Amino acid sequence: MHDADLDVYLHDSDRIAALRADARAGLTSTPKWLPPKYFYDARGSELFEQITRLPEYYPTRAERSILDTRAASIATITGAKTLVELGSGSSEKTRLLLDALREHGTLGAFIPLDVSAVALREAVTALHHDYPDLHVRGVVADFVEHLDLLPHAGGRLVAFLGGTIGNFTPQDRAPFLSDLRAQLDTGEWFLLGADLVKDPAVLVPAYDDAQGVTAEFNRNVLRVLNASLDADFDPSSFTHVALWDPDREWIEMRLRSTRAQTVRLPALDLAVRFAEGEEMRTEVSAKFRPEGLRQELAEAGFSLRHWWTDDAARFGVALATAA
Ligand code: SAH
Ligand code: TRP
Repeated sequence: MHDADLDVYLHDSDRIAALRADARAGLTSTPKWLPPKYFYDARGSELFEQITRLPEYYPTRAERSILDTRAASIATITGAKTLVELGSGSSEKTRLLLDALREHGTLGAFIPLDVSAVALREAVTALHHDYPDLHVRGVVADFVEHLDLLPHAGGRLVAFLGGTIGNFTPQDRAPFLSDLRAQLDTGEWFLLGADLVKDPAVLVPAYDDAQGVTAEFNRNVLRVLNASLDADFDPSSFTHVALWDPDREWIEMRLRSTRAQTVRLPALDLAVRFAEGEEMRTEVSAKFRPEGLRQELAEAGFSLRHWWTDDAARFGVALATAA
């Protein structure tokens, strides 16, 4: 395949400009933080795929089991003509929806959207091969910045899977949901996968696995800064921290500096000091309660029509319509 099958709205130059601004803001704050969307370069996307196969990382399997059971109903209820997927990654679970919608006979097009051009290109190539008669068009874009560029096809179902909604803070979640609603016509559909509040003894290992894949994923953001901004982070001098915050009901990922050190970012004309033991926030993964999610959807103008969980009620999938 060639890039005629990808629409690129987010160019490397935009991504680097945003990374520069975000890195400067985050690294000069107290406490320090880094924005999460930069995890997903080629290596980061590959590490995330490894995470989805870890024994401790239940969300992917739980969500897949829900889609496996409910895909036929989703196809019948929505009768979608176009499936749009936000943060699509490998689009692997999404194949359950594609199969059911094709079986139902309505589906004409699939539009996966992701910031990771590498992951998207790989997914689109595989989809072309396995669904030769389906119109598949990948969109390299940011689902916060570029929602208005989604094809206005009519009869759309927008899927947002993997619990990625939890990577927004609550303040950022509300405008994201409202902006998405504003792009849809009344009666179009939104399928949202959300991880649920549960025992921290299950939650924490999902973000701190025994093999250390999640730790490597977390540190990957430092490699991205090194590659894109010519920074000199030593990833081996930062350890992975995953904490359950019971008040905010989110998992917080941090990187802890194992020693006092100064990191240089010549592209930003910046030198950043880390104290020994200093922690920098890299990601949150919020967990949801069904009633809270229904209310957030309603506040954004979505009406919840179906709510499904896996057998162990670890993960939930909401099917809502633009009201
Ligand atoms: N949906 C897949 C992947 C989830 S991982 C699954 O369920 O397994 C989160 C995905 O969202 C990654 O592929 C990442 O590249 C993408 N992503 C993260 N932030 C994004 C943003 N702001 N805009 C578009 N895609 C984003
Ligand atoms: N959307 C995924 C989640 O919140 C992303 C993710 C999985 C992640 N493991 C991670 C993000 C570790 C940062 C660090 O479950």
